[in-house]
Amino acid sequence: MTTACGLDFGTSNSAIGVIRDGAPELAALENGQPLFPSAIFFDFEHGRPLFGTEAIETYMTQVDGRLMRALKSILATPLVKESTFLKTQRISFESVIGLFVAEMKQRAEESLGRPIDAVVHGRPVHFVDGDAAGDRFAEDTLTVIAQSKGFRHVSFQYEPLAAARAYEAKVEAETLALICDIGGGTSDFSVIRLGPARRGIADRKDDILANFGIRLGGTDLDRHLSLDAAMPMLGLGSSLHTKNLPMPRQLYADLAHWPSINQLYTPANRRMVHELHADAVEPQKAARLKTVVDKHLGHRLALSVEETKIRLSNAPAAAIDMNFIEPGLAAMAARDRFDDAVAGERARMAAAVQETLARAEVTPNDIGTVFLTGGSSRVPALKKAIASVVSPNKFATGDDLLSVAIGLTEEARLRYG
Ligand SMILES: Nc1ncnc2c1ncn2[C@@H]1O[C@H](COP(=O)(O)OP(=O)(O)OP(=O)(O)O)[C@@H](O)[C@H]1O
Ligand SMILES: [Mg+2]
Repeated sequence: MTTACGLDFGTSNSAIGVIRDGAPELAALENGQPLFPSAIFFDFEHGRPLFGTEAIETYMTQVDGRLMRALKSILATPLVKESTFLKTQRISFESVIGLFVAEMKQRAEESLGRPIDAVVHGRPVHFVDGDAAGDRFAEDTLTVIAQSKGFRHVSFQYEPLAAARAYEAKVEAETLALICDIGGGTSDFSVIRLGPARRGIADRKDDILANFGIRLGGTDLDRHLSLDAAMPMLGLGSSLHTKNLPMPRQLYADLAHWPSINQLYTPANRRMVHELHADAVEPQKAARLKTVVDKHLGHRLALSVEETKIRLSNAPAAAIDMNFIEPGLAAMAARDRFDDAVAGERARMAAAVQETLARAEVTPNDIGTVFLTGGSSRVPALKKAIASVVSPNKFATGDDLLSVAIGLTEEARLRYG
């Protein structure tokens, strides 16, 4: 007999669902809750990895160690096979993802009370844009990881189709739906016929008109907000005495991007930041950069920026707290300015929706419902971008952070019983 689960390994958040007495249910992974931040903290003092909220909270208390987030975004790149230093030992990023998957599986098994050996794994339609080989490589890597952690049966489902399953449980009439799952790393779309009578049908080939996706998510928005509002306080845009050169932009770009933050802490980079400080026309700003690099506060800053981005979804302005860099330091962020900073992302979002409809060979008028899900579907600028293609009167929402996991679990029930 197989015992199956649905696994949503997200760029920012993960969840896993199990089947109890024939019914899908999300497993409580931490503090009785199903939502599990995709974060690992290697605690150098105690020599152990911590996961989820505990990982982020421990990092925040400035315990010596290393935080890793957004690991999904390197899955389609050769970097996933490379190893990284954790104080004295080396570990590959693939192994780090393996630790995370194993931890989720174990917690789900504890909640279910028996071993799980089959998984329906969610995946974005495209891990990377325009690189079919990269997509295959990422799926193969996830398969090997899942098998090595004890899943005998591993299959995949596109994340937006999983979200469609979750939404379909609630629809009362037939509708042609555009599913938009806007997450931390990718935006994924499906056009699919949904209806109460189609709910329990396993094979939906004939109902699916198109799947499409782009690599655009909340972490991209974080990067823009950081570069626009936070990094200028650390000297971005200011100059050096030498030849009146600007402070190097790449340094700030790396600091604003989750996967590259750790690379800034090398001795060579630290030396460079100290030299920049000595040469800076505005040494107070450069000193903040030095503090961030010396004290490894990059992730702390990225978390603060992300928090502010989330608040901007419901407020015209919000402060980015940087008190941990310098007492009282904060940067103001305004929604209007943020919308301008992500103009490129708005355009890409609208183009991706158009492309999805074109692939489905339907017009915006043919769409009956737009189901918005994923944490970044709450960003007003992105909602507006989607509304520029399909009327917002057709928008419907559900559980933004869990609908993919719920749908994957229903899929697991249909596939593995
Ligand atoms: N209210 C909000 N306003 C804006 N952004 C938000 C809000 N709530 C969450 N987010 C963002 O949503 C993202 C996480 O969403 P979600 O959990 O759907 O992504 P994920 O499933 O981990 O990523 P992916 O599916 O791309 O791998 C983060 O970037 C987070 O900052
Ligand atoms: Mg997701």
